Amino acid sequence: MSEAGLVARHSREFLAAFGGRASPRIFFAPGRVNLMGAHLDYNGGPVMPTAIDRGTFVAVRPRIDARVVLASTLDGTRAEFELGSLPETRAGRWADYPVGVLREILLLAEAQGARGVGLDVLFGGNLPVGAGLSSSASICVGSAFALDAVYGLGLSRLELVNAALRAERGFVGVQCGIMDPYAVGLAREGALLWLDCKDRTSEYLPLDHDRVTIGVADTGVRRELAQGAFNERVGQCRAAFEALRRHQPDATCLRDIRFETLAAHGDELEPPIARRAQHVIHEVARTFSARDALRRGDAHGFGAEMVRTHESLRELFEVSVPELDVLVASAVATPGVHGARLTGAGFGGCAVVLLERGAEAEVADRLTSDFERAFGRAPVVEFFGGDGGPREIEVV
Ligand code: GLA
Repeated sequence: MSEAGLVARHSREFLAAFGGRASPRIFFAPGRVNLMGAHLDYNGGPVMPTAIDRGTFVAVRPRIDARVVLASTLDGTRAEFELGSLPETRAGRWADYPVGVLREILLLAEAQGARGVGLDVLFGGNLPVGAGLSSSASICVGSAFALDAVYGLGLSRLELVNAALRAERGFVGVQCGIMDPYAVGLAREGALLWLDCKDRTSEYLPLDHDRVTIGVADTGVRRELAQGAFNERVGQCRAAFEALRRHQPDATCLRDIRFETLAAHGDELEPPIARRAQHVIHEVARTFSARDALRRGDAHGFGAEMVRTHESLRELFEVSVPELDVLVASAVATPGVHGARLTGAGFGGCAVVLLERGAEAEVADRLTSDFERAFGRAPVVEFFGGDGGPREIEVV
């Protein structure tokens, strides 16, 4: 369905959910795939994500009272609060994300001497949840943009991205890195974002959607324990850094550790911790060479780094699953494919494929048949365009 069609439908769903005649304002924030820099954001390394033309719609209409009513098209439940007595702690449900953001935006409003008003809000969209396409950052950044607009605060993109990040880390309690809200909030059409997570500097690198396209294949695997396993990797990387910095006092994060330091002292680490460090330190180098390849216009050289990244995620970081390995191997063996790897944290979710435009049908057929042969069911394979980042969309 076209964007206009999706927006019109979301507006109708809002009126069906909340009644009344006045149309809501509708905001959109995309999801993202990360092409290079896997598990580097919380290690201070560089990452190369890009936004996709799928994401979250947030429909908002002010109320005359001070109630905030949050509803979602994906889940029939509602969350309702008085503005003056928002929950202090998370409830373990989807509404934690927008509540966390609302709390942050109200603090920023207060600093301007402004006040919030009650709102009816409906969330929806077309981004698969839990697939590694950053549905949580899409919801948080989309909420921050919508609240800023309806409250007339005029906050900058970066302020909104950081409010979304604080909400997810603080109120929701996920030890996430900075990549996802930055990738969603700073997205630019036709570009990959190069984000250095150590100093938060960024630049845009061209991704020519007339020549290459992005495929995403969803394994359908969702691991209950994925959050715990992600937090464990964060802890292991921290342990590696604490041990190695003793031999390299100038290092401020694991990204700074040099190959020589790891080679000389890696055997002092527990074997799994040493493997995590090896992944991170080599991934930093791979991400820089992927940037060089892109600057040369060498999509195939870029894709080759993606494939090396996947191998390292499988062997050293140990976050792949057989379903992802089959998809990546199948993609790489198909003509027109530049590279493939798991995207997001791993433990299930999606593989991302960089391919020549025109090779879509062959890639979809090949991935589907290889996956069906191995697992007896089909993966969901889709192709995405880029996206220009969060915005308000007129309902026509
Ligand atoms: C998840 C996290 C990101 C990042 C990736 C791995 O998607 O949300 O912050 O750490 O894993 O690159």
